[in-house]
Amino acid sequence: MAATHAFWLAGRQATGETSFDVTSPWDGRVVGTVSVPTEAQVEEAVAAAYAVRDAFAATPAHVRAAALDQVSRRLAERTEDIARLISAENGKPIKWARGEVGRAVSVFRFAAEEARRFNGGEGQRLDTDAGGQGRLALTRRFPKGVVLGIAPFNFPLNLCAHKIAPAIAAGVPIVLKPAPATPLSGLLIGELLAETELPAGSWSILPVPNDRMPALVRDERLPVISFTGSEQVGYAIMDSVPRKHCTLELGGNGAAVVLADWASDEDLDRAAQRIAAFSNYQGGQSCISVQRVIADTSVYDRLLPRIVAAVEAQVTGDPADDATDVGPLVSQDAAERVETWVQEAVEAGAIVLTGGKRDGASYEPTVLTDVPAGATIAREEVFGPVLTVTRADGEEAAFAAVNDSKYGLQAGVFTHDLQAAFRAHRALEVGGVVIGDVPSYRADQMPYGGAKQSGVGREGVKFAMDDYTYERVMVLTGLAL
Ligand code: SIN
Repeated sequence: MAATHAFWLAGRQATGETSFDVTSPWDGRVVGTVSVPTEAQVEEAVAAAYAVRDAFAATPAHVRAAALDQVSRRLAERTEDIARLISAENGKPIKWARGEVGRAVSVFRFAAEEARRFNGGEGQRLDTDAGGQGRLALTRRFPKGVVLGIAPFNFPLNLCAHKIAPAIAAGVPIVLKPAPATPLSGLLIGELLAETELPAGSWSILPVPNDRMPALVRDERLPVISFTGSEQVGYAIMDSVPRKHCTLELGGNGAAVVLADWASDEDLDRAAQRIAAFSNYQGGQSCISVQRVIADTSVYDRLLPRIVAAVEAQVTGDPADDATDVGPLVSQDAAERVETWVQEAVEAGAIVLTGGKRDGASYEPTVLTDVPAGATIAREEVFGPVLTVTRADGEEAAFAAVNDSKYGLQAGVFTHDLQAAFRAHRALEVGGVVIGDVPSYRADQMPYGGAKQSGVGREGVKFAMDDYTYERVMVLTGLAL
């Protein structure tokens, strides 16, 4: 029998009146049973967060930093069991799950470091004009209010970490809702937070069912919403609370551009390896996985067979095996959607060079060419292990193809040319341009977020701390400057 997991209400364990099972997308076994908070328990958590907000903001930096460092250490100590949990509930291959734990270790450590640096205040002399003689402005940041964090299933540990750790670092209480398909990894962060001395009420982790979220979203005691998930849900949230501060990390259909100068055999082998690995990692269920390859005509014919070979070399199977590169998607429904989109593209003229078959929740790593521009898979986020390859005549056409998308999260540009790198940085309408690699590179301390319909605002520890707080200036008068 799988263990029943309590949730975390104002820093302590609690159980509600109902529960639900979390199942493995690989073999359907029950990985855990999760208790659901009642309305009254949700109210208690929100009230506690609201009540502690001033006291938490005033907590000394060393207290918050020590707690964050402790969580980072404990995550590192428990890497293997946490990675097994992520893999079991999400279907993510164990090697990628270990990588995710490593990233969460860093996120909490970065947050501890930022907590020590944050809010020292910035002075600005005002006597640059006669009216400001003897005056100094001191600007510091203060919380906008309690954060409601809503996390997705694809990085069930690290994307919870990205919401919780910056909140604690900035002294802002947070109520976090993990994804219904993968709540166990988020709840596990609660185990580690409960070992710290953080004030009760400063954090809660509540697996609230999606249909009960609108009330929480509207709650005026939660003025900041940090959401990662689908475009539809993200914008529905924002539209329902237009006066709240919403950070939305939404979808993408990441492009990898291979320019004409990236042309040696070694270059093309490397591009193909990286593209194959990062169109399929986590079954393509990352907002920055490679969905579109746009190759200069001069390298296209040599690159394409390399990509196909590298994709075919991806090891599919049981996510618990060390050798597995690609496991199942999060559910059979998700794999069926991918199957439908590929079929639609093929009916419209696309060619399947490899893959293209579904087995339960698993979908084969797939490469498509000749995808018509109007096909769903050419325009939407596939969130599956499917790659489209197109050719472009020159850099300008390649960059235009990247921008021909409603999304703009990250793009990768394979080039050795520094000038081309700067042109890409200027031309591409995305939140991040990665030179010499795929769009899927993310360092957890750097700003991360989208342009266009990929979202609003930035995560990345320091940037989320800025997002959760606002600048308040104090003017000092009568000073001998
Ligand atoms: C995402 O899917 O947006 C997160 C990607 C990452 O953290 O690597």
